[in-house]
Amino acid sequence: MRFLITAGPTREPIDPVRYISNRSSGKMGYAIAQAALDAGHAVTLISGPVQIAPPRNAEVIRVLTSDEMFEAVHRRADACDVCVMCAAVADYKPAAVSPTKIKKRRGAFSLDLLPTRDILHSLGHRADRRFLLVGFAAETDQLRQNALQKLREKNCDIVVANDARLALESDENELLILLRQGRTKKIPRAPKKILARELIKIFEKIATKMFDKKKCADY
Ligand code: CTP
Repeated sequence: MRFLITAGPTREPIDPVRYISNRSSGKMGYAIAQAALDAGHAVTLISGPVQIAPPRNAEVIRVLTSDEMFEAVHRRADACDVCVMCAAVADYKPAAVSPTKIKKRRGAFSLDLLPTRDILHSLGHRADRRFLLVGFAAETDQLRQNALQKLREKNCDIVVANDARLALESDENELLILLRQGRTKKIPRAPKKILARELIKIFEKIATKMFDKKKCADY
């Protein structure tokens, strides 16, 4: 199968020396990319700025901003069978990027922010989508409820939910997997590399089922 995987944070520039970003390390997305390669799949990895060596044998596309990630994903989505949106895309970006360094002034300072485009939502609502779409949900509270809401609103096939406080910058994680039909599966705390292997097995199984059903509907 052909996997398209996003990983890491995005950076939304404020001026030439500052940006808005988050603490995503990219470890989970890179582990998923490696596990997919190890299982014999072809992998395109669209990565925000991270401190990890790229997996050998993957096509790696480096991006910085959410807009760059949006364009890169949409350019390649039709060529994949499984799309795994593991990146921690910034939800807001500065309304304007200052071409020169913003100088310190006395008193409070506020920045106008605009919402970024939701890449997962835009893929989920494409009428012609033929690939398995997997979203991630990073939560600090009401994990199941918030993840279920993302599954429905973003119209994906699977949401992999995790506690952001446990996952951030760590080599370990604990996952709750939600499927469209309301089924859930827990994977207890383990190194991200082990979790990634389990995830790939689940994605392979569900994608195979989905493609078999599509074939039956096509003929
Ligand atoms: N996502 C995306 N584009 C965005 C924001 C998020 O594609 N602009 C994707 C992420 O890659 C992830 C999923 O949406 O697969 C959920 O991301 P998350 O940060 O958990 O949720 P948000 O939708 O940003 O909502 P909130 O921050 O309110 O929890």
